[in-house]
Amino acid sequence: MAKDFSFSCSECGAVYRKWAGQCESCQAWNTIHETKALSSGPKGKTLGAVRGQAIPLTDLDTQETEPPRTQAGVGELDRVLGGGLVKASALLVGGDPGIGKSTLLLQAAARFARNGLKVIYISGEESNAQVQMRARRLGLEKSPVLLAAETNLRDILTTLEAERPDLAIIDSIQTMWADTVESAPGSVSQVRASAHELTTFAKRNGMAVIMVGHVTKEGAIAGPRVVEHMVDTVLYFEGERGHQFRILRAVKNRFGPADEIGVFEMTGKGLAEVRNPSALFLSERGAPAPGSVVFAGIEGSRPMLCEIQALVAPSPHSQPRRSVVGWDGGRLAMILAVLESRCGIPFTGLDVYLNVAGGLRINEPAADLAVAAALVSAREDATLPEKTVVFGEISLSGALRPVVQTENRLKEAQKLGFTEAIVPQQAKQPAVSGLQQRSATTLTGFVESVFGAR
Ligand code: TYD
Ligand code: MG
Repeated sequence: MAKDFSFSCSECGAVYRKWAGQCESCQAWNTIHETKALSSGPKGKTLGAVRGQAIPLTDLDTQETEPPRTQAGVGELDRVLGGGLVKASALLVGGDPGIGKSTLLLQAAARFARNGLKVIYISGEESNAQVQMRARRLGLEKSPVLLAAETNLRDILTTLEAERPDLAIIDSIQTMWADTVESAPGSVSQVRASAHELTTFAKRNGMAVIMVGHVTKEGAIAGPRVVEHMVDTVLYFEGERGHQFRILRAVKNRFGPADEIGVFEMTGKGLAEVRNPSALFLSERGAPAPGSVVFAGIEGSRPMLCEIQALVAPSPHSQPRRSVVGWDGGRLAMILAVLESRCGIPFTGLDVYLNVAGGLRINEPAADLAVAAALVSAREDATLPEKTVVFGEISLSGALRPVVQTENRLKEAQKLGFTEAIVPQQAKQPAVSGLQQRSATTLTGFVESVFGAR
C-alpha cells in the first residue's frame, strides 16, 4: 500500500519521507510539514497503448514570429520584463510582505491599461475599498482597471473566461483557494494547484497573468519558490525596509535576459523609477572616509556604481563578529583569509562589518577587490584617493583576475566624474579618455600601490 501522506517543504516544495527540522534542499528551518502526496496517476495502463494525434514537427531554422509585447512605458519595468509584457505568459512577483508588491502591480496595471490592455486586478488580501484607497493615493483612480476582491479560484476563472482580459493580476497566490484541493489556502498543494490552473488558463486563452507571492518565514504558508518552475518569468522585489530604494530583479525569464534589474524609489506617491541608479546610490556619500570604496559593478546589462563600506574594530569577544549586509558572508571570509595568508594582513581579534550602501545586494565576484580595499582601508585607517573606483576578482592564490565588461564599468565611472580606476592587469586594457588606470596583478601589489609599503 502506498502511503497517503508525505512531508514537503513549504519554501521550496522538496518532498521528504519523514519529518526533519531543516530542509536539505533550501536550508530553511521549520518549513517541513505533513502533506497529502500527489496522486501517482492511473496504474496498469501504458500511454503507448492508446493512439494519440501526431504532432507536427519543425526545424530550428524556420522563423517563428516573435511573441507580441506590450510596454508599460516605465523603462525600469519594461527592461526587467525583457522588453515588455508577453501575451499568454505567466509571471510571478515574489517579495517580503510590505515591500511594495501591491503598489508596484497596481501602478503597472494602470500603465498597461492606459496602453490599451484590458486589465483585471484581483485581490485576495484587500477589499475593493482598500485597493481603491491606494489607487487614489497613487493618483490612479481614473485608470480603466477592473477590480475584484475574491479568493475562490473557480469563480475567478469563470469571470476571466467571460471577461477575456489581456492581463490578470492575482494578489496573492497564497490567498487563492481551489475547491478541488482539500488543504487550506496557502498550503503547498493549494498554491501549486492554483498556480497551475491560472497558468494553464493564461496559456490557453492568450492572457498574461501576474501572480504575487509572499516570501514567508513561517512554515504553514508556502513560499513563491514552489511555483517558480511553472511560470515563464520570476521577478523578485527586494530592498531593505529602512531604505526607500526597491529593486525588481529577474531571476528567471523565458522571454528575456535573467539577472536584469530595475531600480525604484518608494515615495509618498508610490514607486518612482530611478533612471540613473549610480548617481542615486552615490548621492549619500560624504567626503572620502576610511573604509569607504566605490565599486563599479554590472547589474544585468547595466553598469552601476555603489559604495562599499567596511568597519574594523577590536573585538571584545573571543570569537570576533563577521557581519555582512548586501554581500555574501562566505565570500567575505574568503577575502579575509586571502588578505591574511597572502598579504600578511591579519584580522584576528577584530570585528568586521561590511555593508553595501543603499540596500543594494551584490552577487558579482568582481566586487572582491573593492571589498578587500574597503577592509584594508578600514583596518589601516587610510582613505583611498578621491574620485577612484575599484573592481576585480581575487583568486585564492592572491592573484587578481580581470572581469567581464571592463570597458562599460570604466565608462560609467568616467561619466559620473571619477578620474581614476584601480583594476586587475589584463592583456588588452581598454582605454577610456579622462580616466586614469592603475593596474595590479596580485592583491599584495594592489595593497602596496594603494596604501604604501607595509
Ligand atoms: P504594499 O504594496 O502594500 O506591500 P506588499 O503588497 O508587498 O505587502 O506596500 C506596503 C508599504 O509601502 C507600506 O508600508 C506603505 C508603503 N507605501 C508608501 O510608502 N507609499 C505609497 O504610496 C504606498 C501606496 C505605500
Ligand atoms: Mg500586498
